[in-house]
Amino acid sequence: MSGAERSHPWWYDAVVYQVYVRSFADAMPAPGDGIGDLPGITSRLPYLRELGVDALWITPFYTSPQKDHGYDVADYTDVDPLFGTLDDIDRLLETAHGLGLRVIVDLVPNHTSDQHAWFRAALAAAPGSKERARYIFRPGRGKDGAEPPNNWDSIFGGPAWTRVPDGEWYLHLFDTSQPDLDWRNPEVGDMFEGVLRFWLDRGVDGFRVDVAHGLYKEASLRDQVRPKKAKKSAESMVERVLNDEPMWDQPEVHDVYRRWREVLDSYPGDRMAVAEAWTQTAASMAMFIRPDELHQAFNFGWLGTPWSAEAFAEVVNDSIAAVAAAASAPTWVLSNHDVERHPTRYGGGPVGLARGRAATLAMLALPGSAYLYQGEELGLEQVDVPPEARQDPSWFRTGKPGRDGCRVPLPWSGDAPPYGFGGPAGTQPWIPQPADWAPLTVAAQDADPDSTLAFYKRALTARREVFAGADEETVAHVDGDVLVVRRAGVSVVLNAGTYPAALPEGEVLISSGPLPGGVLPPDTAAWIR
Ligand code: GLC
Repeated sequence: MSGAERSHPWWYDAVVYQVYVRSFADAMPAPGDGIGDLPGITSRLPYLRELGVDALWITPFYTSPQKDHGYDVADYTDVDPLFGTLDDIDRLLETAHGLGLRVIVDLVPNHTSDQHAWFRAALAAAPGSKERARYIFRPGRGKDGAEPPNNWDSIFGGPAWTRVPDGEWYLHLFDTSQPDLDWRNPEVGDMFEGVLRFWLDRGVDGFRVDVAHGLYKEASLRDQVRPKKAKKSAESMVERVLNDEPMWDQPEVHDVYRRWREVLDSYPGDRMAVAEAWTQTAASMAMFIRPDELHQAFNFGWLGTPWSAEAFAEVVNDSIAAVAAAASAPTWVLSNHDVERHPTRYGGGPVGLARGRAATLAMLALPGSAYLYQGEELGLEQVDVPPEARQDPSWFRTGKPGRDGCRVPLPWSGDAPPYGFGGPAGTQPWIPQPADWAPLTVAAQDADPDSTLAFYKRALTARREVFAGADEETVAHVDGDVLVVRRAGVSVVLNAGTYPAALPEGEVLISSGPLPGGVLPPDTAAWIR
């Protein structure tokens, strides 16, 4: 089927590019302040068009004290002055749409900032008040209530509860500055319906739903039964002991998404939502994308897969099977602003980069949609950010490096920081850029046909030509150390082993690296027809 004949909505097989707003491009106040912003994004939209993606997802740009870099929202319907104004987002939407790009914005419903008007009112009000009832305030345990109400930990380290001066505790599954809302209180759902409508009215094409598996906690707020041995791991979605998680993935959360689906469907133009749901199984992930709920969910199983043909094949087949019943399409993601960049995960250096390119080429051949994270098209690796420059709230709570290393501002051009990112010449942006990034800038890679950027452009073009509208069944299997995926008459092969492998017969449409002597070298993928 050609692209023109396709019947799926745009998001079904879109390539979506994640823009981490603080680190994409800095344009204001001119010449920039070292922090990316909305006018910066608008100025670089032609780059995304040329790269060949279908949509962008922009991380939170709402009013926020920036304790978790925007995932702590103080006002859901305004733009933080750091990033621009409502006019700037209107201009961004208009420019993007003019270029044929869709725009997904981030929605953070699990918690607000402690600077949100609701939380300030809650602190000013007494225990038992209606102001406190929008959050999860509880008396403590033990003598004088000096112990937290239960044993839950914050994702960012330390207890998930903080005590306020009158002795009550409030729940925050993330930073202290991110109090969890009580979704059992109808006021909360009503507020978020208003937020959805506000942004839909402004013309956004969809939402990325932050911590979509949070929202409801088991009503008893009972202690978590801690696993004795099994550790939380995203590595295999299949065979592992499930953790006891009274704070995540409760059945009531699905009612929220049924309500949101009705709102989204009431607008013209295939508005969509994609869940960030770190569920424990592919089956529970699929619950979020039932026909009357959200449209997509990030497939973190693919991201967590170790470098193994067998593991890749298992995730491909399981992911496709899990979403089939839900009448949705799978999603594939290798990197985002919360995880170590994938070339580094795959070993770093030339091997890590070769593997990263190979995994990307395999991913772009799979059915459904692919999410790319800014900078992966430049082959950027995780940066070892010096301790004095680290800003992730989890660093302050745990003393562990955290996520700053994947959030370093993009290098666009030039030989030295800020590499065309914006900001005064000769200064470093909000997270310092490495001194050796000159060969990795967009300008440098644009001039080199063998660059990772040139490879991404070729791969995205080939994806449109080869797979647009393809609806055939996709099956993955393993041949020795080679992952083989058959789709739309094409064999997609990825050599995860240590020896060269035979290439299937046929025309090589694209490869992630050189194919010397007509064989498939280790750490290389190709599409053959
Ligand atoms: C999500 C975001 C992450 C943020 C957290 C709390 O996991 O991706 O960046 O810190 O939610 O909002």
